[in-house]
Amino acid sequence: MVIALIGATGLVGEMMIRILEEQQIPFTKFIPCASERSVGKEITVQGKPCKVQSVEDAIKAKPNLAIFSAGAATARKYAAAFAETGAYVIDNSSAFRGMEEVPLVVPEVNAGRITQSTRIISNPNCSTIQMVFPISPIYHEYGIKRLVISTYQSVTGTGINAVRQLFNEREGKSGEMAYPHPIDLNCFPHGGDFDEHGDSAEELKLVNETRKILDAPGIQITATVVRIPVMGGHSEAVNIETEKPFRPEDVRNLLENTPGVVVQDNPQNSIYPMPKYAEGRDEVFVGRIRRDHSLDNGINLWIVADNLRKGAATNAIQIARYLIDKQWL
Ligand code: A2P
Repeated sequence: MVIALIGATGLVGEMMIRILEEQQIPFTKFIPCASERSVGKEITVQGKPCKVQSVEDAIKAKPNLAIFSAGAATARKYAAAFAETGAYVIDNSSAFRGMEEVPLVVPEVNAGRITQSTRIISNPNCSTIQMVFPISPIYHEYGIKRLVISTYQSVTGTGINAVRQLFNEREGKSGEMAYPHPIDLNCFPHGGDFDEHGDSAEELKLVNETRKILDAPGIQITATVVRIPVMGGHSEAVNIETEKPFRPEDVRNLLENTPGVVVQDNPQNSIYPMPKYAEGRDEVFVGRIRRDHSLDNGINLWIVADNLRKGAATNAIQIARYLIDKQWL
């Protein structure tokens, strides 16, 4: 199997290489690609040096699988060319997520949406993946009427330039600004462009992607996305109004019995999920599970995950693993 990775020099791309190695995904040839400025650069894959190639050269090599993590513009430009050669494409950008014919997949929730003839599969946004995964069993058990989401997002979700901005500020150096404001000792409610109603692109991703993944267009969802000077993971305060009544201990049980979800919920002993400790882990951590007394059927959760891993790279490689297990790859 030949795998091409477009965006191999980015934060998510580098993580994808690590996870391909960790999970021992079998391949005969690996083609890392990036922008023209990185072509020829050497990176290490499975302990061997590997030269970064141009996307055009990768298309000519006709890989069986092309994984994209290079932004929406690059995906729009090149994904179809890979698909036309028969490759499966897993794209981490927002380019195709809204298209009805493109499955938007969190494997634990809706891998069944992928068929053998699917060519392009979208990896959801990081904050959507980590939320939809633990709320999916709640949705199936109790139904969900409404979600109110507030996020506290790591700078790594923006990319390498944002991490550099944070560290430049800490070290008192000037440099390129990934954000319109200083991020160190600050936070801002700004994730992507704002629409005419004042919602940010990241907020709309949470609304639209959650509905699509759960196949639940009727769920009412509102979100506020906030960037904070943190590495390691995104945190989310999620308020859920269910259709049916529940007992909080049953919800806790349900989450404890969901493989891939780890409940950390003993606030009296200062035990709850935190990004510092989610970093490097593939699980999604849930704590502060408690009734919302302002509603008949309301529950609050605090959800944390490593946004570069389960929020991006791990989820994409799980999709690849699904294709391999089905023997479609
Ligand atoms: P490069 O390193 O050459 O800029 P991040 O999200 O961490 O900023 O990473 C973005 C990734 O997408 C990088 O690997 C970057 O390569 C890659 N990339 C950006 N633009 C293009 C492009 N036009 N064609 C291919 N890869 C691109």
